[in-house]
Amino acid sequence: MRSTTTLPVPVPAVEQTLALFEPARRPPVAHVEEGYLDLLGEEDPTGAHPGQRLMLSSALALIYERLWRPLGGRLLMGATGPGVREERRLALSMLELSPNERVLDVACGPGNFTRGFARATGEGLVVGIDASKTMLAVAVRKTDSANLAYVRGDACGLPFRDGSFDAVCCFAALYLIQEPMRALDEIVRVLAPGGRVALLSSCNRGPLPARVTNPVVQGLSGVRIFARDELTRALRDRGLTGIDQRVAGLAQFVSARKRS
Ligand SMILES: C[S@@+](CC[C@H](N)C(=O)[O-])C[C@H]1O[C@@H](n2cnc3c(N)ncnc32)[C@H](O)[C@@H]1O
Repeated sequence: MRSTTTLPVPVPAVEQTLALFEPARRPPVAHVEEGYLDLLGEEDPTGAHPGQRLMLSSALALIYERLWRPLGGRLLMGATGPGVREERRLALSMLELSPNERVLDVACGPGNFTRGFARATGEGLVVGIDASKTMLAVAVRKTDSANLAYVRGDACGLPFRDGSFDAVCCFAALYLIQEPMRALDEIVRVLAPGGRVALLSSCNRGPLPARVTNPVVQGLSGVRIFARDELTRALRDRGLTGIDQRVAGLAQFVSARKRS
């Protein structure tokens, strides 16, 4: 086992992250050997579809940020939709981050948005959580802020206490997560009163309803197609306000706020 002093992730951020855990979810031994706090060990909450399994591949993690994500974004949002840089700007503006805030990036992948949140919050704390060891290995390698920590865990069972975060982001992941509405329950639960949420996911377009397109697309690709009002309605049903939706091609950006 590697010594904790050689960890690429600054230990104080991991300790601050552990302090946000529900007491019952605090691990007796913190496994941080790989630079992220591993809550899953041999467990794997990622689904069985090859499209979902792909997220565990080392090769994909290596090309994800520079090739896969920009190309995937273009395919999903179309040639006139926002590029990677614009997506980063949108995420920051939807989350309305201030210095010293606590931010959670759910299904953070290789930290491609997480790092920007860490820069935007200065003395705050930013936590990226993902189920994929390979994605997190890249995220840890690219960590460039002392206020940033990564956790390997399940989006459908977040370890944090209620109201732990001022802002929660979940980009390009709800459509891959096995039980997206459970993940949404968790996102809302860990959001503090007045906290903001930003989502990027798929959006059904065209003449056929999502109940027709989704089984076909999900069967082929593992990617769920959400009906146009499914996420906005889900947030409203969970008591969020100020819900805003921006549709771009086959994608939707949705932001909302928890009541103070
Ligand atoms: C397409 S990547 C998105 C990465 C980044 N948020 C972005 O916008 O580019 C989807 C991520 O969701 C993660 N994921 C899928 N199911 C998960 C679950 N149940 N819990 C945590 N992460 C999960 C995968 O490991 C993968 O890294």
